[in-house]
Amino acid sequence: MKLLFFFTGFLWIGILFGQKEGLYCAEINDKLQREGTFPFGIASGDPSDEGMVLLTQINPFKVFGLTTVECQLSEDETFTEIYRKFQTTIRIENAYSAKITAYGLAEGKTYYYRFIYGEDTSMVGRTRTLPKNPKNLRFAVVSCSNYEWGWFNAYEALSKSKDLDFVIHLGDYIYEHGPGTYGDKKLARKHVPSKEIISLVDYRSRYAQYRMDPQLQALHKSIPFISVWDDHEIANDAYALGAQNHQEEEGAWRLRKENAQKAYFEWMPLKDNTHYRVRRSFHVGNLLDLYMLDERLEGRSKPIESLEGAVENKEQTMLGLEQRTWLLREMEQHHARWKVLGNQVLFSSMNVPSNLSAIKKSADMWDGYAEERSLLLKTWKNQSEKNLIVLTGDAHVSFGIDLQYDGEKMGAEWVTPSITSANLNERTSNLNAWRVERYLKNPRINPTLNFINLRRHGYMEVSLSEEKASCSWYFVKTLKRPSGKCRKKATRERFWST
Ligand SMILES: [Fe+2]
Repeated sequence: MKLLFFFTGFLWIGILFGQKEGLYCAEINDKLQREGTFPFGIASGDPSDEGMVLLTQINPFKVFGLTTVECQLSEDETFTEIYRKFQTTIRIENAYSAKITAYGLAEGKTYYYRFIYGEDTSMVGRTRTLPKNPKNLRFAVVSCSNYEWGWFNAYEALSKSKDLDFVIHLGDYIYEHGPGTYGDKKLARKHVPSKEIISLVDYRSRYAQYRMDPQLQALHKSIPFISVWDDHEIANDAYALGAQNHQEEEGAWRLRKENAQKAYFEWMPLKDNTHYRVRRSFHVGNLLDLYMLDERLEGRSKPIESLEGAVENKEQTMLGLEQRTWLLREMEQHHARWKVLGNQVLFSSMNVPSNLSAIKKSADMWDGYAEERSLLLKTWKNQSEKNLIVLTGDAHVSFGIDLQYDGEKMGAEWVTPSITSANLNERTSNLNAWRVERYLKNPRINPTLNFINLRRHGYMEVSLSEEKASCSWYFVKTLKRPSGKCRKKATRERFWST
């Protein structure tokens, strides 16, 4: 019997050790050997009025036997009194993560939290529960943070912002490319592993790299996230059954997709579910109904080759029947003043003159799924929807657009600039981008466009009150060196309407 215990124990240590070595690529493993217990920082997300998800990833090389992690919450930063304690087991099969759903907290309140493993304590984070019936809400919107395009200065700037309730991340949190293929070649910020990511080890290693970035860590530790993936968490221009950047020789799409989805749920502070489903809703009193959509993996059909004839193409779906039915039913059943969509790709149709070669309409955006877009807009118009706010990422542009259908105003679409990923001027020139801006904002060409910037990086801040919704665009000074300097560029408002 003793002999059996001996062998079982030996086998367990062997498996554990093997898993540690095989968890990440060599570059990350090397780094982790020199790091402490919590090298990836801490994060919170998916807040409710009584709790939120709290997440950390333990350095596998610091795990010795003990499998329990504690998370403490306090009302003050110094933890003079512990308000709540939660314990969980390290999820070895989920990249040594510790994910806790905290509950029993007071509504609309700031809490501080930290993780404890053995003798070691993580950094202290700040998080917030949602208020039950607020008069105001304030949140930020971000997307598109490619490590190789520059420093995450917008994340740092945002981490200093006070009184935000949460951050909405609309995706492209990581990028799948190998080093030197999509980025600023002059910067010493190169992706690891040094290849396009395909396997589970690859995806985990890429998240590990991003999560060791101090500016991203600063943001995660200061505010809860509400996030969804876009395409680059998997592969460029992804849809349910494939992606533009997935080739046959890279293996089965189904496996790659599953690797990417698993890694996303390991690394992002959102609630787990068995189907890796990211679409979900948040209802905040009478003020906000927020619908986070999955416009990539749940039901999206392959983009059409050309936009000609897109309007008549009834087969194309961005959401898939199940998600679309869910969205429309939920929106019919809930009646908060503002209905907000966490949308990934550009929803409104812009007029882009065919002689502008630098910028083209894309069949990957809602223009390629025009029939489904009309169906949604028509339904909302019939429901006399006038207070819809569509928040959009993906495009690496800043747009303010009046949302209209059939001549009726239905709300606004606000498009957030990228954190770092290339703008038009970085793909062509400043002059070219400025010319295109001037062209597009001509009211005779795009009468619904009320703000445009194709040259800057940053984020949006959205404020909601009973009377109005407003959006401010904040731009950082540079991506070339670390600098948390950031300035408000413009604000657009939309008054609540009956
Ligand atoms: Fe992007």
